[in-house]
Amino acid sequence: MAILPILCYPDPRLHKVAQPVKAVDDRVRAVLDDMLATMYDANGIGLAATQVDVHERIVVIDVSEERDTPLVLINPEITWASDEKQVGDEGCLSVPGIYDGVERSTAVHVRALDREGQPRTIEAEGLLAVCIQHEMDHLMGKVFVEYLSPLKRNRIKTKLLKQQKQAERA
Ligand code: NI
Repeated sequence: MAILPILCYPDPRLHKVAQPVKAVDDRVRAVLDDMLATMYDANGIGLAATQVDVHERIVVIDVSEERDTPLVLINPEITWASDEKQVGDEGCLSVPGIYDGVERSTAVHVRALDREGQPRTIEAEGLLAVCIQHEMDHLMGKVFVEYLSPLKRNRIKTKLLKQQKQAERA
């Protein structure tokens, strides 16, 4: 297992659209293991393959307190989303230090393949539902700051670019 570098907004690679996984094989399972290691190392609750510059429809999530309940979604599709929506603060490993409100459905049903390639349906609500929607946006090349006003988004872009330049110099 390896800890992979996480792309940081506004890296243009975060806007690539991920392709479906053709076969859930050992190569894909190795990607899953690296993504889980990377997510746990960064203390995140979710990670999309896009964020580690792998442009395939793969997501890992763990919203448990104990950090011991990994959920793997391969080729996820949302089959139902509640009309009821709620605004909650979101953050993202690709947008470090930034948290802001995003409106999401409060519950979703998602169909995906597991690490054995078996289809399964997950009925999610609360934090898990929000996390699934956030990670699936990444697979479409969308970062949560794109829901914010252009003014806020530009401020975030400027701030992060400045931080990245400082980090390069250090
Ligand atoms: Ni994210």
